Amino acid sequence: MELQGIAVDYQAVLEQIAADIAPLIGSGTPAEYIPALASVDPRRFGMAIADVSGKVYGVGDWQHPFSVQSITKVFTLALALAADDESLWERVGREPSGNPFNSLVQLEYENGIPRNPFINAGALVVTDRLQTLTGDASSELLEFLRQESGNPDLAFDPEVAESESAHGDRNAALAHFMASYGNIVNPVPTLLDHYFWQCSIEMSCADLTLASRFLARHGLRADGSRLLTRSEAKQINAVMLTCGTYDAAGDFAYRVGLPGKSGVGGGIVAVVPGRCTLCVWSPGLDARGNSVAGVAALDRFTTLTGLSVF
Ligand code: DON
Repeated sequence: MELQGIAVDYQAVLEQIAADIAPLIGSGTPAEYIPALASVDPRRFGMAIADVSGKVYGVGDWQHPFSVQSITKVFTLALALAADDESLWERVGREPSGNPFNSLVQLEYENGIPRNPFINAGALVVTDRLQTLTGDASSELLEFLRQESGNPDLAFDPEVAESESAHGDRNAALAHFMASYGNIVNPVPTLLDHYFWQCSIEMSCADLTLASRFLARHGLRADGSRLLTRSEAKQINAVMLTCGTYDAAGDFAYRVGLPGKSGVGGGIVAVVPGRCTLCVWSPGLDARGNSVAGVAALDRFTTLTGLSVF
């Protein structure tokens, strides 16, 4: 591809990144609060890039499935916005929270309205809305991901879903608390089930780069049909930039300069609008729940290529 007349060799860039960040692989700690994730080998590293036409480049463990976790929050938001009007934004805000992803602290003094759709409270509201709109939020999500990635074998991981459920007191607290304000309309146990199944989906970097391409294609799906308006695609990218990595979003924007969304499985998806999507995976997390090697790899990508939104 061309950037201001300069061709970018994605495969060469990926190999350079893998070499540059090698000393960081194994840094950080895999998510410990979900036992099924704590046992993943922290030395895994993979990265993929899909251009807008669907050609995928990869390095390391780029085809190895991992637990997608909070990256799914981007897709549920897209599906809810695609099926709904603007009213979702009356139930969830668009401001960075400055707090950890699973924090309860702002909800009471902000009347049960979460700061943004990417912290857990906001994602629960989005899944609640998707459940109302579709009747089966997690299956709807899985089907969408299969179609966009072209991988019919994508599946939930029952062990991870059950593990999340068994350690889900904090998410249950968030959901019940918002229900007390009328901001959750489905039964909380039903909502939590869909949320935990949603988080448990396993995908590789290759799958995720393909599935998130609608964000680089200004709302167009893999088959050329329109999921989102150009404006809605811009809105989601903007919220990813400002809120996608929680209380590290400022640092992520400073270092990487791209819309991004992380998950505690160690994956991060990032978007270069109009050009490509990226996904990096390495399970060692920093204190804010973002992959240490993953953030460093994306930082390196924008430095090497100059491809950022700034
Ligand atoms: O809600 C949870 O605790 C997880 N299933 C998802 C959290 C997550 O991935 C946060 N991301 N960094």
